[in-house]
Amino acid sequence: MKKPVVVYQSKYGATKKYAEWIAAELACDIYRRSDVKASDLEPYDPILYGGGLYAGGVNGIDLLTKNFNALCGKNLILFTCGLSDPSDQDNTDHIKSSLSKVLTAPMQEKIKVFHLRGAIDYARLGPIHKAMMAVLHKMTARKDFQSLREEDKQMLATYGKAVDFTDRAAILPIIQYVQAILSHADQEEAKNSRGH
Ligand SMILES: Cc1cc2nc3c(=O)[nH]c(=O)nc-3n(C[C@H](O)[C@H](O)[C@H](O)COP(=O)(O)O)c2cc1C
Repeated sequence: MKKPVVVYQSKYGATKKYAEWIAAELACDIYRRSDVKASDLEPYDPILYGGGLYAGGVNGIDLLTKNFNALCGKNLILFTCGLSDPSDQDNTDHIKSSLSKVLTAPMQEKIKVFHLRGAIDYARLGPIHKAMMAVLHKMTARKDFQSLREEDKQMLATYGKAVDFTDRAAILPIIQYVQAILSHADQEEAKNSRGH
């Protein structure tokens, strides 16, 4: 029987919240990225990895990229957690284009990607992140507002505040995807055992 696992890296807690919701729904093991090595994932399939989006990159995604050869025989699922609205295709295209810089073509083919919407509380940001957001805000505020992408307009509107878009219902497509893998594997197992 296939046994899923959720691994995540979360700086301020939004990805952790989603990872915990997903693991609870699938009744599976869950680990922080810092607590596992690729070899610890050997008993698991599918492997779900979740990381926060920072300047287009996914926190801790090297778990999948550096260990791709060891993991590529398994079902691999990546969920990103960022502030931009994943129901806007412009945003998901933007994330996809950033991901294509770190995921090779075989990785892109193999890894099923989902996007979830996170949270930000400027009062809780560490000094480096605060400075990065200040620079981004300054650069964006200088541009012609009408020409901005929706994501940038929202960043200007929420700059300095606390916003939380985390939503348990948003994990449903991920759960359904994993359940389909598990039930297909069960059917194959039953077919094989009948054949013997
Ligand atoms: C410095 C910085 C850069 C960020 N870059 C992005 C980004 O490129 N795209 C995005 O959608 N969200 C971005 N965010 C928002 C985070 O992805 C969001 O806060 C997310 O919930 C973080 O998840 P975590 O707390 O689990 O790490 C950024 C936040 C910070 C502080």
